[in-house]
Amino acid sequence: MSVRKIIIDTDPGQDDAVAILLALGSPDEVEVLGITCVAGNVPLDLTTRNARMVCELAERRDIKVYAGCDRPLNRGLVTAEHVHGKTGLDGPNLPEPTMQVEDMHAVDFIIETLRKESEGTVTLVPIGPLTNIATAFRRAPEIVRNVREVVLMGGAYFEVGNITPASEFNIHVDPHAADTVFSSGVPIVVMPLDVTHKALVTRARNDAFRALGNRVGQAVAEMTDFFERYDREKYGSEGAPLHDPCTVAYLLRPALFSGRHVNVEIETQSELTMGMTVTDWWGVTDRTPNALFIGDLDADGFFDLLTERLARL
Ligand code: RIB
Ligand code: CA
Repeated sequence: MSVRKIIIDTDPGQDDAVAILLALGSPDEVEVLGITCVAGNVPLDLTTRNARMVCELAERRDIKVYAGCDRPLNRGLVTAEHVHGKTGLDGPNLPEPTMQVEDMHAVDFIIETLRKESEGTVTLVPIGPLTNIATAFRRAPEIVRNVREVVLMGGAYFEVGNITPASEFNIHVDPHAADTVFSSGVPIVVMPLDVTHKALVTRARNDAFRALGNRVGQAVAEMTDFFERYDREKYGSEGAPLHDPCTVAYLLRPALFSGRHVNVEIETQSELTMGMTVTDWWGVTDRTPNALFIGDLDADGFFDLLTERLARL
């Protein structure tokens, strides 16, 4: 397998942090060209802080971290401190970052990178609201054809919404950005709540993180210990759902996942269903399929892969 060039667009977020660590623990398969931060779980100043803390936790101060959009395209920012804590990375007691944020704006980095790299060689991995990605696509539409594929965490269909009855957080925060991305023609793989709610950090899986005996394993165990309480109370889940790491795991082991190539459209008109990913799973319309919508995974295989890669950091 050749090394896959990726840009992670993120709003850390404990699950974002685990996705970044999974990527950094897999240098033979993915090359992180940069981490672009967006406002989402917490405001932009905290997402850029948290992304740098995670890079330093992995002892990868060489990774370039960029600050992007601090609010959605057309709506006010909705954050999720009730899930992720005041800092967005509550749980472990990590030191404040000392590495700098890059001067270049995240959107400019995305555009310049896609213009510079050979066509079809860069994969975008958005794991927060899609504001940065949509802004880049709107500002420089020609870069869309340069994208190998977009593998994103967002949306829900059978699992329904987690921030409203109809919509999942990343899409709900910036539905107009999501609409831009889903209607751009770029190849898309969607990791919705339908699959991420099956990637639960059970007690045994959390214990396996701690048993790694390294700083990363301990920190991830503390992150998921904090992050799980919201889903335990709300869903009665067995543990924290590792939403965002499903995207990186798909790049490493696509066979762990299964889904269907269907049409997905984004609700941007009705406040009642704003941000809903209207997914034609049963093919009842003549709308053109535009996304691989993932519905299931081999959860044990996913956690074996994740734990093995965290052990390398
Ligand atoms: O709905 C889950 C998504 O929202 C995840 O990306 C989580 O980090 C939050 O951003
Ligand atoms: Ca996220």
